[in-house]
Amino acid sequence: MALFISKTKKIKPAKQLAGSVRFPGDKSISHRYAMLAAIAEGPSEIHFFSSSADCQSTLSCLKGLGVQVERKNDVVMVHGRGLKGLRPPREPLDAGNSGSTMRMLSGILAGQSFRSVLVGDASLSRRPMRRVTDPLLQMGARIKSREGLPPLEIEGGALQPIHYELPVPSAQVKSAVLLAGLYAEGETQVVEPLPTRDHTEIALEQMGADIGRHRRTIAVRGPARLEGKKLYVPGDLSSAAFFIVAGLIVPESNLLLQNVGLNPTRTAILDVLVSMGGRVKVVNVEMLNGELLGDLHVEASKLQGGEIPPESVPGLIDELPALAVLGTQTEQGLTFRGAAELRVKESDRLAAVAENLRRMGAEVEEFPDGLRVAGRQTLRGAEIDPHDDHRIAMAFAVAGLVAQGTTVIRNSSCVDISFPDFYATLERVAE
Ligand code: S3P
Repeated sequence: MALFISKTKKIKPAKQLAGSVRFPGDKSISHRYAMLAAIAEGPSEIHFFSSSADCQSTLSCLKGLGVQVERKNDVVMVHGRGLKGLRPPREPLDAGNSGSTMRMLSGILAGQSFRSVLVGDASLSRRPMRRVTDPLLQMGARIKSREGLPPLEIEGGALQPIHYELPVPSAQVKSAVLLAGLYAEGETQVVEPLPTRDHTEIALEQMGADIGRHRRTIAVRGPARLEGKKLYVPGDLSSAAFFIVAGLIVPESNLLLQNVGLNPTRTAILDVLVSMGGRVKVVNVEMLNGELLGDLHVEASKLQGGEIPPESVPGLIDELPALAVLGTQTEQGLTFRGAAELRVKESDRLAAVAENLRRMGAEVEEFPDGLRVAGRQTLRGAEIDPHDDHRIAMAFAVAGLVAQGTTVIRNSSCVDISFPDFYATLERVAE
């Protein structure tokens, strides 16, 4: 009989947070650089590659497709096999917990000349895949799923270009279609209802693809030829977000967050926080491989709170659990709608946030597509159930810093999915 030992983590209230922090390389960008490097010509050397379990899942899948990958700490060498040079996998490709791996890789696998199967863990096996199989089927791919859920069985082949209007704003789906478009003869166009992260577009441009953008339409021309290159991954702003929030709400905090990715499609969190009175300053901005990065100086602040407009939601989708926790410490509380997508992330994040805020004694109202969190709340230390979701565990570890008494995070190691050193980093800056 297998013995499952679930780790717990105790979080004590903090008097202040001080010091400087570096974050693992951005998870979204690391996935993309690895996948594109695999189908490029020649080697790519990727520096500051994400330490996340999710990006390791991407590397494992690429190895399963015959790609030679060498990893030394945060430097990853990928020996590109060219657009169609991947090898048929001997076993199902395991995307683990990673929606990005399964959805984006589907676009590449649809263009190969062999059959492959993509599987995932229990959480990923509950997540919707029609959003990616629908456009790929339109392009001529043959894909079977379990009624729209993983596993995905992809019989690769010749693809046609399509003009596709995304029904939901999703960078993963946009990327899958663009990646499949590399294989189709002619111009594939994707139209986004609202802007989402554009790391795929930037990386494709950097590696020599013929890609154009006009307002909400992105067009890629196939068949493409990508060139391997040396790439640098900025620190993950979505991981930094937990420290930004913590630095703002723990009294007398003063944090310097270094080398954080500042791509404008990811920085909506900064706009929201600054507009609420958060003292967050951006310093030392530079650009590497078409991606902006810089340092953030964060000081404890009195925060107004308010309402996040629905059109801002796609730009801060991964930061909403942390923002909901921050809402409890604002003057007016925090409300957001238009975030039904949160129900189909690694967990139902609206339900998980509401449940755990209530466990801490906070007042919260749950809508089908959002939350209203009351302000000026005194949180009580509680036992937190992260529902195996890294971002819920980290958001509530931050809540524990401003709570009365001790907070216990169940199954705390789920943070490894995006940020394995999260607790060690938090302990280093907390006093
Ligand atoms: C991601 C896009 C977002 C985000 C996810 C990573 C990406 O998902 O929530 O954590 O790397 O493209 P959707 O594109 O499904 O909204």
